[in-house]
Amino acid sequence: MVPSSLKGLSSLEKLDLSHNELNGSILGSLGQLSDLVRLDVSNNSFNDVFSETHFSGLKKLKYLLMSSTLVSFNVSSSWVPPFKLLGIKMIKCNLGPKFPAWLRTQNELHYLSLSGANISDTIPDFLWKLSPNMYHISLSNNSFSCSITRSIGEKTSNLVSLSLSSNRLNGSIPLSLCKMKYLANLYLQDNHLTSEIPQCLGDLQFLEAMDLRNNSLSGVIPTSIGHLSRLQSLHLYKNKLSGELPPTMKSCEGLVTLDLGENGFSGNIPNWIGEELSSLKFLFLQSNKFDGNLPPQLSLLSDLQVLDLAQNNISGTIPTCFGNFTAMAINNKTNKIIYSGGITDALESIVVYSKGSQLKYSTTISLVVHINLSGNNLCGEIPQEITHLFGLLGKIPENINGLRQMESLDLSCNRLSGAIPDSLSQLTFLDLLNLSYNNFSGRIPRGNQLDTIIDASISWGNPFLCGPPLLNQCPENETSHDSQSVVDQEESNDELLMHLLYISMVFGFIVGFWVVCGILIFIRSWRIAYYQFFDDMRDLLYVKVARYVAILQKTKIELVGNEGQ
Ligand SMILES: *[C@@H]1O[C@H](CO)[C@@H](O)[C@H](O)[C@H]1NC(C)=O
Ligand SMILES: *[C@@H]1O[C@H](CO)[C@@H](O)[C@H](O)[C@H]1NC(C)=O
Ligand SMILES: *[C@@H]1O[C@H](CO)[C@@H](O)[C@H](O)[C@H]1NC(C)=O
Ligand SMILES: *[C@@H]1O[C@H](CO)[C@@H](O)[C@H](O)[C@H]1NC(C)=O
Ligand SMILES: *[C@@H]1O[C@H](CO)[C@@H](O)[C@H](O)[C@H]1NC(C)=O
Ligand SMILES: *[C@@H]1O[C@H](CO)[C@@H](O)[C@H](O)[C@H]1NC(C)=O
Ligand SMILES: *[C@@H]1O[C@H](CO)[C@@H](O)[C@H](O)[C@H]1NC(C)=O
Ligand SMILES: *[C@@H]1O[C@H](CO)[C@@H](O)[C@H](O)[C@H]1NC(C)=O
Repeated sequence: MVPSSLKGLSSLEKLDLSHNELNGSILGSLGQLSDLVRLDVSNNSFNDVFSETHFSGLKKLKYLLMSSTLVSFNVSSSWVPPFKLLGIKMIKCNLGPKFPAWLRTQNELHYLSLSGANISDTIPDFLWKLSPNMYHISLSNNSFSCSITRSIGEKTSNLVSLSLSSNRLNGSIPLSLCKMKYLANLYLQDNHLTSEIPQCLGDLQFLEAMDLRNNSLSGVIPTSIGHLSRLQSLHLYKNKLSGELPPTMKSCEGLVTLDLGENGFSGNIPNWIGEELSSLKFLFLQSNKFDGNLPPQLSLLSDLQVLDLAQNNISGTIPTCFGNFTAMAINNKTNKIIYSGGITDALESIVVYSKGSQLKYSTTISLVVHINLSGNNLCGEIPQEITHLFGLLGKIPENINGLRQMESLDLSCNRLSGAIPDSLSQLTFLDLLNLSYNNFSGRIPRGNQLDTIIDASISWGNPFLCGPPLLNQCPENETSHDSQSVVDQEESNDELLMHLLYISMVFGFIVGFWVVCGILIFIRSWRIAYYQFFDDMRDLLYVKVARYVAILQKTKIELVGNEGQ
């Protein structure tokens, strides 16, 4: 409970009760805090119903933070609050079902986050005309419906970050969105958007992250994508896009994530992906219509952690150089990737499909390592050079103590042949091994983790395998390698490893560790990312909008700056 003596503190400017387990009422205490500038009651169990009178004394209020509380609002649609707010953060606060009409009066607003606020409404046009200082709008995780209107670019042309994800928006992406010339983060995923990706998106030269996953967009990737030289993250997963990847895309040299799975893209996998997109860490091209061979150039991607080419029409052999994905070593330093400096806490998140389920990674993204080539037409043996990849596996960095690691190896549904290497047993974290529907032959290796994960299903589609756990005996020493000498000699160790295609190693889930200790670390990295953002932003915008950035910085500090304390 909040002590009633709070009332006496009439010259209080900042009141921060966030992240406690306070319950009951906060209301009685607020009315007389007439100097209050910043009110943060986020993450408590207050269950007040706020009405107009409760706010009537708060004339100087600038920052209102009420995320994750049980409070609700009962104010009339014509209410004119006594304050002009700069920042509003009400994430998971029950504001719906109507869009709060009183926001219409908040024409100095810089920052608005109403995600998960239980609103089922259309996005009011006034929002896009509210304030030229607005740099962040998030309305994600609500039930906004209808289309995004053309007024979107009208007065909000200084937006740095826009999130309308996880709503029920339909219609097309309005061309006026391209007027937001400083836009760095655009999140429209998980809606019902249709028609084509507008060519004019190429005007958004500061764009760093664009997420259009899970919509119904059609047509091709516009050639103008090549103008987005700062683009680091492009998610187009699960749309109805088609055609070949435009060669102009090779100019997006900063791409870290290219997520094009579950579309109708066709043609060869271009060589330039490997040659030009040298920052790529996460490449998803699964479930498309790509054909041709695996370009050896992919192995030039020295930071690659995820390569998912499953369910295409790729043929030929696995290039020998595929052992050169050195990033699979997981010696990464950071735990997460934030675009445009955490202004929105805009975390990169990827979804990895493994073991028939979806695993989402964001805060532990750098620990994900995953290669999936299943469901293609690959043939031949697994090349010797794959060894390099596995040579690195031994080095598990110290900083992942406490994390449970999960590796899975999925080579199913190809035409690969030859023996299954004994060296698989050295992958002590292996959780899943799926080699079905190839033409592997000979003795099934045993040992370590393998005994627990290999079951008879390994023989599905591999009729020439023998030995336990299958019932058929192997002909004496027929195809198996001499596993004794392997243990003794480095050289042959490598040779055994060569047969290994490491498909998926997903370093996964944080258990208690991050919950308890991780928060501190995260907060530190937030802060670093945050200051970095302002450094970057100054570079970008200084000449034109230096003053704007200063305001923005202040707002940001007020909104999230003391979350660390
Ligand atoms: C809210 O606070 C509780 C207790 O301090 C904490 O365990 C929980 O993680 C917090 N939730 C959020 C969303 O910050
Ligand atoms: C607040 O929480 C305390 C401890 O859980 C409980 O005893 C008290 O009844 C709660 N008060 C209200 C108003 O819910
Ligand atoms: C909302 O306010 C109106 C008038 O002030 C009142 O009649 C109504 O009971 C209130 N509703 C709730 C849920 O508090
Ligand atoms: C969301 O709003 C509806 C009324 O529109 C209400 O019935 C429901 O309880 C709210 N959900 C949450 C989680 O607050
Ligand atoms: C693999 O990487 C090593 C060292 O980085 C390099 O010397 C070698 O040429 C590469 N092999 C291929 C096939 O690219
Ligand atoms: C292995 O792959 C085959 C073919 O895709 C599938 O039917 C089977 O369920 C998979 N096994 C496991 C354990 O995931
Ligand atoms: C599968 O491998 C066996 C020998 O291990 C070979 O005789 C057979 O031709 C292969 N089948 C196909 C379809 O490649
Ligand atoms: C099969 O190999 C094992 C181990 O290498 C060896 O001990 C055994 O004598 C071999 N059997 C035959 C029939 O060659």
